Amino acid sequence: TTIEWDAETWDMGGHDTYMHKEIHEQPEAVDRVLRGRIDDRFATVRLGGLGIDNREARAVRRVKIIGCGSAYHAGMIGAQLIEELARIPADAEPASEFRYRNPVVDPDTLYVAVSQSGETYDTLAAVQELKRKGARVLGVVNVVGSAIARETDGGVYVHAGPEVCVVSTKCFTNTAVAFALLALHLGRVRDLSVADGRRIIEGLRRLPEQLSEILKTEEDIRRIAAEFGTARSMMFVGRVRGYPVAREASLKLKEISYIHAEAYPASELKHGPLALIEPEVPSVAIVPNDELLEKNRATLEEIKARSGRILAVGHQDHPIADETIIVPRNEPELDPILLGVPLQLLAYHTALVMGRDIDKPRNLAKSVTVE
Ligand code: G6P
Repeated sequence: TTIEWDAETWDMGGHDTYMHKEIHEQPEAVDRVLRGRIDDRFATVRLGGLGIDNREARAVRRVKIIGCGSAYHAGMIGAQLIEELARIPADAEPASEFRYRNPVVDPDTLYVAVSQSGETYDTLAAVQELKRKGARVLGVVNVVGSAIARETDGGVYVHAGPEVCVVSTKCFTNTAVAFALLALHLGRVRDLSVADGRRIIEGLRRLPEQLSEILKTEEDIRRIAAEFGTARSMMFVGRVRGYPVAREASLKLKEISYIHAEAYPASELKHGPLALIEPEVPSVAIVPNDELLEKNRATLEEIKARSGRILAVGHQDHPIADETIIVPRNEPELDPILLGVPLQLLAYHTALVMGRDIDKPRNLAKSVTVE
């Protein structure tokens, strides 16, 4: 397929790279994915293209999300949102793993394919295999009319606008927001209360402003990047809601800076990766002020006891960390959408100091349309 983009698409708007432009477009992009979809009267959202009615939505017993790269990570956030808000068991899996393991395709499961381009071969092939087996498949896709958008039964468009840089930023964030909308919708046709529906809607409405606040801290992050960016290897850790954030931040850093980075659930550190911790291997810890704060504090101590340097990303200062990036607090379920944004800037400024080709990293393509 050919996608028609106008001249404006290619305008860098005063930014040196598309990545920088796209990071800074996030407040307006999130505004777009929300626009016209919030239904205040019933404390829910209207998703016109979903293609499943409320009775069918109630009958869903499980949600399986598939995608590749950043889309898979956004799907991990989506799975947690669906479990939390709709109380439907949900999980995400890389599309290629899913399609090669001859999965059991269950009629009561709702399958969701996630893709910025809508053209990724592994994701498309997984969708086609699911359709062949009679499954119901939705798409959470950015490019309107793309192959995955056409093959799926319906879905939620991400409306991030064209993303040119190979690595995903605004589309990742918008995909996570699109999942929050889907989770809220599924929640409200099931057991999510009106009060909780309102709480989530208010949280969603705060996102664009909070994103703008995060982007104003760019100078601090540039300074931190100069300090941490000399590492040969970095660890990213998070728990539950923080784990997909750590995964995506680690991916972003390695994609554009070529620094080796690993992401682990914080609780798994002691089962192996702790052996890697030393002053030359700094850790980035996702530490939101949620019910796991104490557990996460223990992780910071665990790392510090091995003389590891720490960058904490959370909602308050953490004196034990060498640096803390404080992100505005939203509702706990929506916090993962914001916590990763400063780490996009961290990856960006690290790669910039190293003189990397940020928009076109070596060996990578924007969409992988081959097997
Ligand atoms: C490529 C890109 C990644 C992207 C992945 C999935 O590997 O380099 O940045 O996340 O494809 O792309 P999609 O278009 O399906 O979201």
